[in-house]
Amino acid sequence: TPRVFSGIQPSGGLTLGNYLGAIKRFVEMQGQGFETIYCMVDLHAITTWQDPEVLRNNTRELCAGYIASGIDPKQSILFNQSQVSQHAELGWIFNCVARMGWMKRMTQFKDKAGKNAENASLGLFGYPALMAADILIYHATHVPVGEDQKQHLELTRDVAAKFNHDFGVDFFPMTEPVIEGAATRVMSLRDGTKKMSKSDPSDLSRINMTDDADSIANKIRKARTDPDGLPSEIEGLEGRSEARNLVNIYAALNEQSVEDVLRDVGGKQFSEFKPMLSDLAVSKLSPISSEMARLMQAPDEIDAILRDGADQARTIAAPILDKTYEIVGMVR
Ligand code: TYM
Repeated sequence: TPRVFSGIQPSGGLTLGNYLGAIKRFVEMQGQGFETIYCMVDLHAITTWQDPEVLRNNTRELCAGYIASGIDPKQSILFNQSQVSQHAELGWIFNCVARMGWMKRMTQFKDKAGKNAENASLGLFGYPALMAADILIYHATHVPVGEDQKQHLELTRDVAAKFNHDFGVDFFPMTEPVIEGAATRVMSLRDGTKKMSKSDPSDLSRINMTDDADSIANKIRKARTDPDGLPSEIEGLEGRSEARNLVNIYAALNEQSVEDVLRDVGGKQFSEFKPMLSDLAVSKLSPISSEMARLMQAPDEIDAILRDGADQARTIAAPILDKTYEIVGMVR
């Protein structure tokens, strides 16, 4: 059976971008003839500084977010990366397969390291090699992600191809990125040229999955738009990144195409559309945030789910790692 793997960093709270670009898609792929494996990538999170207590809490909250959104630990394997040591072990081998030049071209590294790249951690530089290991340790065939991860998935294919070529084997598969839907790139509510991100200094730029109804409404009311109304056809959104973003969010939340949304709301002013969007967002997100809060009351149960998921993940990962070591020439 085709196998799906994807991961999210517990490096802060979940945003609407993570939900629409990733988690909602993960839920849609569950039970559709795929084996689904979803991870909290805590080893990736520490490539930038994380306070230990905050990291622990964020990992549990992310797990609660997955479950509250509809990931069922009985149907999907749900676990945190550091509990399955095979990720780090294959990551090391891939550090020796991937090239420095490949890493230097990664736009996420350039963005995250900023001007002072000399002071970035070595882990941040090598981040994509560990990400390739996350995927390939399961021989995953499909990886649902937002648009910003596309370059990392191309690198994953490069790593698989170079490994296969160097050792003369046909062992690691060519993974397919799955980047689909109306919200593969949710933008900041304050600036339509920037991605919505948990690290943006302005909280008004994003909707957090833990925001209450008032703050969701407030952020949407304050969201930047242009003075024109909504067009009835998609061409009318060209060059209007903020307008486009709000329509995309509406379409993704309501499981409609952008064309269908515009057929309904074309001709309206934003003063009329924004309250519609707030109501929709609150009705879709508040059941998730209240379920997250309920699950967070029982951190022991969350930890038990993660341990159980890690046990299942290890049964797939261990034989693939053994075979990799054998191919590479390690005495076992
Ligand atoms: P991370 O933690 O930054 O984001 C998790 C997922 O959310 C998507 N996403 C968005 N989608 C649409 N609009 C946005 N504004 C937005 N912001 C985030 C991301 O594309 C991602 O799918 N490197 C990964 C984590 C990772 C991973 C993996 C993913 C580690 N190993 C293996 C897939 C497979 C990351 O930093 O995601």
